[in-house]
Amino acid sequence: MAAEKWVYMVTAQTPTNIAVIKYWGKRDEVRILPVNDSISVTLDPDHLCTVTTVAVSPSFDRDRMWLNGKEISLSGSRYQNCLREIRGRAGDVEDKEKGVKIDKKDWEKLHLHIASHNNFPTAAGLASSAAGFACLVFSLAKLMNVDEDASHLSAIARQGSGSACRSLFGGFVKWEMGSKDDGSDSIAVQLADEKHWNDLVIIIAVVSSRQKETSSTSGMRESVETSLLLQHRAKEVVPKRTLQMEEAIKNRDFASFTQLSCADSNQFHAVCLDTSPPIFYMNDTSHRIISLVEKWNRSEGTPQVAYTFDAGPNAVLIARNRKVAVQLLQGLLYYFPPKSDTDMKSYVVGDNSILKEAGLDGANSVENLQPPPEIKDNIGSQDQKGEVSYFICTKPGRGPVVLPDQTQALLDPQTGLPK
Ligand code: DP6
Repeated sequence: MAAEKWVYMVTAQTPTNIAVIKYWGKRDEVRILPVNDSISVTLDPDHLCTVTTVAVSPSFDRDRMWLNGKEISLSGSRYQNCLREIRGRAGDVEDKEKGVKIDKKDWEKLHLHIASHNNFPTAAGLASSAAGFACLVFSLAKLMNVDEDASHLSAIARQGSGSACRSLFGGFVKWEMGSKDDGSDSIAVQLADEKHWNDLVIIIAVVSSRQKETSSTSGMRESVETSLLLQHRAKEVVPKRTLQMEEAIKNRDFASFTQLSCADSNQFHAVCLDTSPPIFYMNDTSHRIISLVEKWNRSEGTPQVAYTFDAGPNAVLIARNRKVAVQLLQGLLYYFPPKSDTDMKSYVVGDNSILKEAGLDGANSVENLQPPPEIKDNIGSQDQKGEVSYFICTKPGRGPVVLPDQTQALLDPQTGLPK
């Protein structure tokens, strides 16, 4: 490798995911090994994703990273562990056109520039670390010609953030907790791809929150240290529930899927309450949404919508099909209308073609909504203005991809600095 001036780079896009059987608690804090298996649905990266460009050049003098345009430190152990693991697996790279030739052994000396961007606001409280670490590991693996499958890469992403390992696949994904001390069998596997159950529609209510939330990392540490319910959950409940969830997904059994998802979300929040001091992630708005969905499901006789909540108040609602999603959105907008001067297209984002189907694309259409007939005891309709910041309409989506179009790169191909 001569002291040339080239910059060699790769850009990739990685989805985020929402757990329907939750990961909550580590048995090894450094390697990030969980106390139970978990299962997630990958969300469509067109609506929620991270894009990362990684570059290498003999002219770089140190590893550097920019997140959403701001330079951040890479000195934390989670970044360092991911970088070390991926460098250790790097292969030979040659690009004759660009005059690039990197031998396997050169990677230890070469420095990297990394720029990463989320297509959703970080302030929304949606898990950005999952898509972020998955994208870092996936793009570096492509740059460095790492010859490992997605499950092996998931074990590296896991060391950045546990939930990140599940973002290496599209569709429905299981993180097997594994039993080895070195974590080599704590990996993600795909249960089914995104086309397997493509009726599902996902509506996320981004709930306005003033309260400062406990991070997942410290929250789950406190739960492991103090909650007896967590131990019972990990030992007795999740092993059986995981098998049932795998069956429900395989058979597209929406009734079981809903029962298991809702029960698991509620148990995760019960573990938080069982932690000392107790952790409150959901708020009154979250509880109101649960009550709406529960009433609706009950009145229909068979479940129409599943709900799940992560370490924050946002509701992730999974509707059994498009027709149900349209009704769900109408009900949600009846109870949680936007503030008076809000444009509907900024109140319902993602796949907002659903607005037209719901007859909500015109002026005053929200005011004309009728209360959902199923919900007899009116829970203070229209009083909740402003409780939901906005909704995102999405669906199960694909796994990571390389973006070959150079115009999508976040780093300048000449300088290797952010564009
Ligand atoms: C509630 O993956 O963010 O979203 O491994 O410490 O980085 P660390 O935690 P993180 O925890 C996610 C917790 C959860 C449930 C889940 O995604 O399974």
